[in-house]
Amino acid sequence: MTKPSPAARAADLRRQLEHHNYRYYVLDDPEVSDAEYDRLLNELKQIEADNPDLITPDSPTQRVGATPVSELQEVAHTTPMLSLDNAFTEEDLIAFDRRVRERLETSQQIEYVAEPKLDGLAVSFRYENGRLVRAATRGDGMKGEDVTHNVRTIKAVPTQLRGKAPDVLDVRGEVFMTLAGFKAMNQRALEKGEKVFVNPRNAAAGTIRQLDPRLAANRPLDAFFYAVGEHGDWKLPAKHSEVLEHFREWGLKVSPLTKVVQGAEGCLAYYRDIGEKRASLKYEIDGVVYKVNRFNQQRELGFVSRAPRWAIAHKFPAHEENTIVRDVEFQVGRTGALTPVARLEPVFVGGVTVSNATLHNMDEVQRKDVHIGDTVVIRRAGDVIPEVVKVVLERRPKNARPVTLPKNCPICGSAVEREEGEAVARCSGSLSCAAQLKGALLHFAGRRAMDIDGLGEKIVDQLIESKLVRSPADLYKLTVEQFSNLERLGEKSARNLVSALQKSKKTTLARFLYALGIRDVGEATATALASHFASVEALQEADEAAIQEVPDVGPVVAAHVHMFFQQPHNREVIQALRDAGVHWPAQTRRAAAAEGPLTGKTFVLTGTLESMSRDQAGDRITALGGKVTGSVSKKTHYVVAGAEAGSKLTKAQELGIEILDEAAFLKLLGEQ
Ligand code: IVH
Repeated sequence: MTKPSPAARAADLRRQLEHHNYRYYVLDDPEVSDAEYDRLLNELKQIEADNPDLITPDSPTQRVGATPVSELQEVAHTTPMLSLDNAFTEEDLIAFDRRVRERLETSQQIEYVAEPKLDGLAVSFRYENGRLVRAATRGDGMKGEDVTHNVRTIKAVPTQLRGKAPDVLDVRGEVFMTLAGFKAMNQRALEKGEKVFVNPRNAAAGTIRQLDPRLAANRPLDAFFYAVGEHGDWKLPAKHSEVLEHFREWGLKVSPLTKVVQGAEGCLAYYRDIGEKRASLKYEIDGVVYKVNRFNQQRELGFVSRAPRWAIAHKFPAHEENTIVRDVEFQVGRTGALTPVARLEPVFVGGVTVSNATLHNMDEVQRKDVHIGDTVVIRRAGDVIPEVVKVVLERRPKNARPVTLPKNCPICGSAVEREEGEAVARCSGSLSCAAQLKGALLHFAGRRAMDIDGLGEKIVDQLIESKLVRSPADLYKLTVEQFSNLERLGEKSARNLVSALQKSKKTTLARFLYALGIRDVGEATATALASHFASVEALQEADEAAIQEVPDVGPVVAAHVHMFFQQPHNREVIQALRDAGVHWPAQTRRAAAAEGPLTGKTFVLTGTLESMSRDQAGDRITALGGKVTGSVSKKTHYVVAGAEAGSKLTKAQELGIEILDEAAFLKLLGEQ
């Protein structure tokens, strides 16, 4: 076979890359791994670097134009970009459907297309002979701004349509940012001391209006297409749903949640269904949109001012609301960290009433400039803890008070310390602080730690209050009688608690180390420390350098571990626990993980396996020398996916990581 000419190879590579883009973005079903895709792209870049005359404007390498624009040009929309009326209740929607049927003079059910209402910004994309020539924001609906330079960087927007496209096609869609992308971007901005965005929509809007496309290229924008404007020589089909089918064929990504439904009933069922899915979506939606499916009916219905009579947005309860900060209090956690919490005038947001919102730490309070008395925007997305997004400065009252870090712990009065360069302030009281003691005891008793069944918050509170317990070791001295003296605790429960304590004494070194609640030592680190050092004595004697030899333990964690074991008080508690009878099977010290057929292989477990629990699966992998981690990354070798596997599976597919079902996994373990 002769080597193809650079021109032929470049054309072939572009065709392949476009095909893979389509599989990935439109069908959500990639054929090749990211690495494979990057190889093709790099080969094309190389050919174009060697032969600049071969570069075409719509080559996949040309998404990031090198030159920023000096300002955004105004663009007139050839057909106006409309807005939508809103429905906030089921009644609103039923009334909308009634109006539609009355105007159409029909008693028959109307067919609607139901789509998620994406919370991004509307963009018009103009294709001429299949090539993307211009992208513009909605603006006032008649005129928008030219944002082609940035839109070109969005991989979900094809620069060239597939198949036979009309001579002119103006498609409308929503450009948005995924939640994960938004978080990652803000994290990076925070680290660099740059401006952070308050929500994904603002981040998307801010990005798309940047002058320098290199900025947009580094930010994770995505898009869905949902409407058609000018359509040139293309004779529209009879229905909107058919337009969306054509979009898909041309490589324009349509929301997979789009559905044809019948009548108001169908709309409401869709609304409920999407409402349930909302929290698990990777992007934000603020409602659903219903559109009369048949174009002849749409035409008959027409418009009122800027909104069509044939479509309506059915909104979900808002994610963001305004309210007033009544006070800011400080909570003390298990590690002594002081967390400022805003006490709010109760407000209904995202479907629940919110009266507290975390402010994370003092840096955050300063960055957001929160004062007591301020009106603030509260946000509650999905199931996350409500957050203060920003202060409405215009509404700051004269008597607003700044938030100050207390000098003394609000719980125990010990000095509050804040290390140089650290955002977090801590109470220096350790276990003498009731809040820290409480956190420590609850953590110690936790299911994955010492697993002391029945030792809950109410009991722990009383044990601390009555000074019966000053450290975890004191728990083992408690008698049935002392327990039964506590409020609301019968003799039977008291007996159960004592026997649960007795039972918990038999544990493993890893669980014990985890239970101690050393800062930054989670289960994985505890397990690593246990298998590396094999005994508490060895760990107590180790210096920071020796601790850093443990896989995945860096200097910060090593310093915390070392410091913990240097404190005489901690050594005393450990000794007292062992004197009380806490024990674990002897382990032999080993320098590295077990050697075996899986040495060097990293696994992530997700979903439910039938033949074993996830813990058991993890043990089997480690026994054969493999490693189990919690999240999927490029370094993961295998993802074991059981039933109902979720986002980790998706991530693995995105990264092109080998996925094992239960049968394949058992085979790898040598069991089938
Ligand atoms: S259709 C004539 N479909 O909602 C209909 N809009 O309030 C024009 N939006 O500016 C829009 N998801 O930014 C349509 N599936 C969807 C949408 C959607 C979000 C936004 C869009 C528009 C606004 C109208």
